[in-house]
Amino acid sequence: MNRALSGTAALITGASSGIGAATALSLATQGASVALVARRKDRLEKLAERIRDEGGTASVVAADITERDEAADAVAQAVRSFGRLDILVNNAGVMLLGPIEDAPVEEWDRMVALNVQGLLYTTHAALPHLLAAAEGPRRTADIVNVSSVAGRLALKGLGVYNLTKHGIGAFSESLRQEVTGRRVRVSLIEPGTVETELASHIRPEVRGSMRNTFGTASILQADDIAETIGFVVTRPSHVEMNEIVVRPYGAR
Ligand SMILES: NC(=O)c1ccc[n+]([C@@H]2O[C@H](COP(=O)([O-])OP(=O)(O)OC[C@H]3O[C@@H](n4cnc5c(N)ncnc54)[C@H](OP(=O)(O)O)[C@@H]3O)[C@@H](O)[C@H]2O)c1
Repeated sequence: MNRALSGTAALITGASSGIGAATALSLATQGASVALVARRKDRLEKLAERIRDEGGTASVVAADITERDEAADAVAQAVRSFGRLDILVNNAGVMLLGPIEDAPVEEWDRMVALNVQGLLYTTHAALPHLLAAAEGPRRTADIVNVSSVAGRLALKGLGVYNLTKHGIGAFSESLRQEVTGRRVRVSLIEPGTVETELASHIRPEVRGSMRNTFGTASILQADDIAETIGFVVTRPSHVEMNEIVVRPYGAR
C-alpha cells in the first residue's frame, strides 16, 4: 500500500458526500489521519467506520462552517485529535444556479456564506497549524482549494456561483504569495462536471432550463478529483502544483 502521507493529518470540509468523501478516503489510504467535516454526522460516522475498517485513522467533526466559531472549532478538534495539521482541503461548496434577475436572494447568501466565508474561516483557523507543521521534518504543508471551471469562465445562469469561485481563485493566489516563503503550498483544483449531489440543490425549473449549458459528452467521478488532490499533496516539498483544471473528456 502507498503510504506517502504516513504521520500527517488532513482536514477535509464537505466530507459527507461527493468529492470530499472520496478525497478523505484517498488521503486516508495514503496514510493520512483524516478529520471529516460537514453537517451530516451520520454520513461522516459511516465514512469514518469504513476508513477504520480499511486500517486508516479518521475523526468526525459535525460542523456548519458558515458559522465562524464552528469552523474554528472544527480545526481545533482536528488538531486535538491528531496533534497536528498538515493538509487542509477546502472542498465544501454549494451551487445554486439560475438567472440573476428575480433570483431568490437567500440562494446567493448560502453560496457566499459557504463557498467564500466558510472557506475563509476554515483557512484562517488552520493556517497557524499548517505553518507549524511545515517547520517539521516533512518541510511542507498544503491548502487545497476546490474551485471549479466556473472559477475561470463566466456563463449565463452561473453569476453568483461564478463570483464565489473566481473569488477563491484570487484568494488562493494572494495566499500563495503570502505563505510561499514558509513552505505552505496553495493549490487550486478546478473540476468540470462531476457526478455528485451538487446539482440536486438547484431549483427544478432552473435545472431543466440549464440542461445544455455544460455540453459535456462524459462526466467525471468524485474519485477522479480525489486522485488529483492525492497527487498534489504527495509531491516532493520543492514542487508546488498551483492550479489544475480537470474536465471530463469532450467538454466544450
Ligand atoms: N460536482 C461538480 O460538478 C463540481 C464541479 C466543480 C466544482 N465542484 C466543487 O466541488 C466541491 C464539492 O462538491 P461536490 O460536487 O462533492 O458536492 P456535494 O456532494 O453536494 O458535496 C458538498 C459538501 O459540502 C458540505 N456542506 C454543505 N453545506 C455545508 C456547511 N454549511 N458546512 C459544512 N459543510 C457543508 C455537504 O455536507 P453536509 O450537507 O453534510 O453539510 C457536502 O459534504 C464544491 O466546492 C463544488 O463547488 C463540484
